[in-house]
Amino acid sequence: MSLEISDLRIEIGARAVVDGISFAVPDGARVGLIGESGSGKSLTALAILGLLPDGARATGSIRWNGREILGLPDREVAALRGDDIGMVFQEPRTALNPIRTVGRQIGESVRIHERVSRREALRRAVIEAERVALPDPERIVSRYPHQLSGGQRQRVAIAMALACRPRLLIADEPTTALDVTIQAGVLALLRALVQDAGMSLVFITHDLAVLAQVATHAVVLEHGRVVEQGEVAELLRAPSSSVTTALLRDATATLWHPERSPGPIRGAAEPGSTSPGPASTGPTRGTSSAGAETAPDVGGDDTPTGEHLP
Ligand SMILES: Nc1ncnc2c1ncn2[C@@H]1O[C@H](COP(=O)(O)OP(=O)(O)OP(=O)(O)O)[C@@H](O)[C@H]1O
Ligand SMILES: [Mg+2]
Repeated sequence: MSLEISDLRIEIGARAVVDGISFAVPDGARVGLIGESGSGKSLTALAILGLLPDGARATGSIRWNGREILGLPDREVAALRGDDIGMVFQEPRTALNPIRTVGRQIGESVRIHERVSRREALRRAVIEAERVALPDPERIVSRYPHQLSGGQRQRVAIAMALACRPRLLIADEPTTALDVTIQAGVLALLRALVQDAGMSLVFITHDLAVLAQVATHAVVLEHGRVVEQGEVAELLRAPSSSVTTALLRDATATLWHPERSPGPIRGAAEPGSTSPGPASTGPTRGTSSAGAETAPDVGGDDTPTGEHLP
């Protein structure tokens, strides 16, 4: 199950906001799309999902398992969404319906795609809630989104996206709205679920430290163009574009500063280090210090839980 994007162009009015992007997501690969605000990340994701805003025109090619999906009729792209391709967006508040229980929302895509009964859908919702490590799944499914913490809501959004066992997950800044410790837990969960299921992932972020935690490959965008792409480890070791270098500097700074300053300099100067600088040491250390690897929170980001789920 692979995704191939070739020479994708998206025009809004007379402006090319995505200007000839090409990259591939082979089966089981986890690809991070990274770039500054306005570089075209979200529009690229929306094009894959057939959800471009009115007035946007896309040309080029988006192939899913060899089949051209750019320009397919709405009905056919809608059948792929949620079934073959799942999605998680930045702000769980807007992704969730405030007046429906989370169980109903998690079960909804199962009902639509697998045509099961409401009762069966709810049973599946409990299983999915458990899978994303929501506390007390049997009870939490009858709660409403506002009764959950931000981290829990994002877990619900992930459960919704994964309920139908998609082969590709597209996640657009899924943890940006969360604070850092909660972010680490949700990222660890997302990566574990994707890895265990052998799913492919397109993960959008503006933060290279975050990308390094979940992705195997990175595609760096600037003004709607790809300026660099390759394996994450290679990109961190020897970035070839000024954009990546700047992203690396920012990521390293974020990761090191809380502990001690001037951290990055020390890391670079470690004896025996042959690498050019913080580039190679920073993010690796940051990844483990963020606790994503060693301490995945098991619903433990959920301060409000106690209040709402006694
Ligand atoms: N609905 C729209 N109408 C007009 N222009 C748009 C629309 N959506 C996006 N754009 C423009 O297209 C460009 C790319 O937008 P996109 O949302 O893909 O950026 P992004 O890389 O996701 O940025 P961010 O990191 O801020 O989310 C931007 O210049 C943006 O202003
Ligand atoms: Mg965006």
